[in-house]
Amino acid sequence: MAAESSVKVPRIKLGTQGLEVSAQGLGCMGMSSFYGPPKPEPDMIELIHHAINSGITFLDTSDVYGPHTNEILLGKALKDGVREKVELATKFGIILQDNQFCVQGDPAYVRAACEASLKRLDIDCIDLYYQHRIDTRVPIEVTIGELKKLVEEGKIKYIGLSEASTSTIKRAHAVHPITAVQLEWSLWSRDVEKEIIPTCRELGIGIVAYSPLGRGFLSFGPKLLETLSEGDSRKYFPRFQPENLEHNKRLFDSVNDMANRKGCTPSQLALAWVHHQGIDVCPIPGTTKIENLNKNIEALFVKLSKEDMAELESIASADAVKGDRYGPGLGTWEHSDTPLLSTWKVA
Ligand SMILES: NC(=O)c1ccc[n+]([C@@H]2O[C@H](COP(=O)([O-])OP(=O)(O)OC[C@H]3O[C@@H](n4cnc5c(N)ncnc54)[C@H](OP(=O)(O)O)[C@@H]3O)[C@@H](O)[C@H]2O)c1
Repeated sequence: MAAESSVKVPRIKLGTQGLEVSAQGLGCMGMSSFYGPPKPEPDMIELIHHAINSGITFLDTSDVYGPHTNEILLGKALKDGVREKVELATKFGIILQDNQFCVQGDPAYVRAACEASLKRLDIDCIDLYYQHRIDTRVPIEVTIGELKKLVEEGKIKYIGLSEASTSTIKRAHAVHPITAVQLEWSLWSRDVEKEIIPTCRELGIGIVAYSPLGRGFLSFGPKLLETLSEGDSRKYFPRFQPENLEHNKRLFDSVNDMANRKGCTPSQLALAWVHHQGIDVCPIPGTTKIENLNKNIEALFVKLSKEDMAELESIASADAVKGDRYGPGLGTWEHSDTPLLSTWKVA
C-alpha cells in the first residue's frame, strides 16, 4: 500500500444540520464510468482505503455511475468497519437507458431508488442523498416531501440537491432543510457565483464543488484529449471540441505558468482556488490514482495571497472559456425549475 499523506486533512461543517466532512472529498465517478473503461476493482478499493486513511472521508457516488457499479464498488470498499469512518454521499434521479439520460423524481421512484442504493452499498443509511438532476415534471416540494419521509424513517440522514436553480433550492429548503448543494465550480466554471452561491450562503447550505479540476483540463490543458480512451465522455463535451480548445488553452497556459511560479502543479492551484472560496465549500476532485490523490491533499495547504487570487480572477474572467459545460442530453441548474405544487396531479 502507498504511503499515507503525513498532513492532517481539516474537517468542515457542511450545512447547518450537523454534517461534518473532510474539507476535501473524493469523487468516485471516474473509477467506474464516463471517463473511459472501469478501472480494476482491487486498485480502486486500495485507493478508497488510502483516501480514508489519509483523512479524505467524504466519498461521492451516484446510482447512475456505471450505472450501479460504482455504488457496488463502494459497498465492497466499505466492508469490515470501514463504513463507520466515512461520510457517504450518493444521488438519484438520472436514469441511463440506451445511451440516453432520463430524469425522474416522483415519490415512488425516489423511494425505490433509495432502497436500491442502500442494497448496492450494503448499508442501512445514506449520509447525504442528493437529487442528481431536477425532474421538471414534478414540483420540487413533492420530491423533497418523499426525501423528508426517508429522513424520518432513518434511511437517509441529510438531503442535497445537484444542479438546482436558486428558486428550486429555496422551495426545497422550505419543505425540509437542504444540507448541501452540489454544483460545478472551478476556474473554468463560474456561472454559479452570481445567484446560487449567495443563495446557499443565505440559507446556510453547504457547497460541494464538483469537477473542480475542470474534468482534468486544468491539470493537462488540451493535451488531456490525447490521453482519453474510446468512449470517454469528455470527447463530446462542448469545451473539449477543437473549435474551442485553442481559446481554452490560454486559460490553462496561464494557470500553468502561475503554478510554476508558485511551486505547485496546475491541478493544485486550481483546487487551492476552490478551497480559498470559504470553509463552507468542499471540492470533490475525482481521481483513480493514489499519487494524484496525495497531490490533491497537498493542495489544501497551498496558500494564495490576495494578489494571487486577483491574478487568478483576471485569468479566469467571464470570457476566458468557450463552450458550454454540457452538451444536449442532460439539463443543468438553468433548466431545473419545476411546476407549482398546485398543478401536481398524482397519475
Ligand atoms: N453532480 C454532478 O452532476 C456531477 C457531475 C460530474 C462529476 N460529479 C462528481 O464530481 C467528482 C469530480 O469530478 P470529475 O471527476 O468530473 O472532474 P475533476 O475532479 O475536475 O477531474 C478529474 C480528472 O482530473 C484528473 N486528476 C485528478 N487529480 C489529478 C492530479 N492531481 N493531477 C493530474 N490529474 C488529476 C483525473 O485523472 P486520474 O484519474 O488519472 O487522476 C480525472 O481525469 C466526480 O467523481 C463525481 O463524483 C458530479
